[in-house]
Amino acid sequence: MQTEVINIAKDYDRALSESARLIKDGQVVAIPTETVYGLAANALDENAVKKIYIAKGRPSDNPLIVHVSDISELSPLVSEIPLKAKIMAERFWPGPLTMIMKKSGIIPSVTSGGLDTVAVRMPESEYARAIIKACGVPLAAPSANLSGSPSPTNAKYVFDDMNGRIPLIIDGGKSKIGVESTVITFTTDIPTVLRPGGVTVEEIRNTIGEVNVDDAVLHELKNGETAASPGMKYKHYAPRADITILKGSLEQFIEYTSGKDFFALVFEGEEKYFEKAVTYGKPLDAVSEANRLFDALRELDEKGAKTVFARCPELSGVGLAVYNRLIRSAGFNIIEL
Ligand code: TXA
Ligand code: MG
Repeated sequence: MQTEVINIAKDYDRALSESARLIKDGQVVAIPTETVYGLAANALDENAVKKIYIAKGRPSDNPLIVHVSDISELSPLVSEIPLKAKIMAERFWPGPLTMIMKKSGIIPSVTSGGLDTVAVRMPESEYARAIIKACGVPLAAPSANLSGSPSPTNAKYVFDDMNGRIPLIIDGGKSKIGVESTVITFTTDIPTVLRPGGVTVEEIRNTIGEVNVDDAVLHELKNGETAASPGMKYKHYAPRADITILKGSLEQFIEYTSGKDFFALVFEGEEKYFEKAVTYGKPLDAVSEANRLFDALRELDEKGAKTVFARCPELSGVGLAVYNRLIRSAGFNIIEL
């Protein structure tokens, strides 16, 4: 299959019309969003959704997020909208927030990975919403990487993973946020964050009060434990290199790694201490770290890195999302210095 790339800033009308034509025909199209690029198909068409799993090489029990272009498109997808979910939608949509609710009858089982719930998000990206609107259907879309790889934040990285697997990539430039949306479920008594993202736990607490954070956000699941969010049980965001996170100060990091042959994954300004280094954002600035992390992981692969030691982000605010992705890309290899 030939993979075409259309730059939506330059060729807006054709980007929308080609996306709509292919999606209506049951095909898969990669689209830009403010978090990461998504691999989109008609969420209500079982055969189209199956093509997403094939293009990504994704296990079929890992459910997809359904993307809408307006709040009014939520109610047909779910059996009921809990009050707190309504408050959250009004506060954070459009934006990097995905909400899980009981699904309605129109969501096919493939879209929800066999669960009786569905995840819904309204992206902030104007391009994403214009594409959804042009297609006229809700779009199921996981991140547009091959299963297990870091999520793509630009069209080139989508092309690297998806060339020959899908007919069209819409290039909307670099994703503004750089890590995936916050996923929260309203199917538990107390709403529970299953994946941290651009909307922080602190912001959610300020909006709806009590909220739990699922254990799998910060810890590896033990053998036999079931994941509330199936995506959390898979090895994820992993470059080819072996990554170890070193928790501690920069001085301890330098001392621990001295004499070793490795790539340093460090914060801006720290690279001067190392022979081979890739940076991911500024120290104590989680938003900039989120923005750089997945690109940095792909750059390590491009440079042929085999052994990587990484600096550890803060665990609050957006830093929780950065840490959640980094520990998975490191296969939970963490050393306390
Ligand atoms: O920012 C994002 O969320 C991006 C863009 C494209 O919108 N999408 C994305 O999708 O990250 P994906 O498929 O890579 O991650 C979705 C996560 C997975 O961990 C999946 O297991 C979880 O959400 N999920 C989806 N539906 C669920 C459900 N019904 N119950 C529990 N977890 C669910
Ligand atoms: Mg993903």
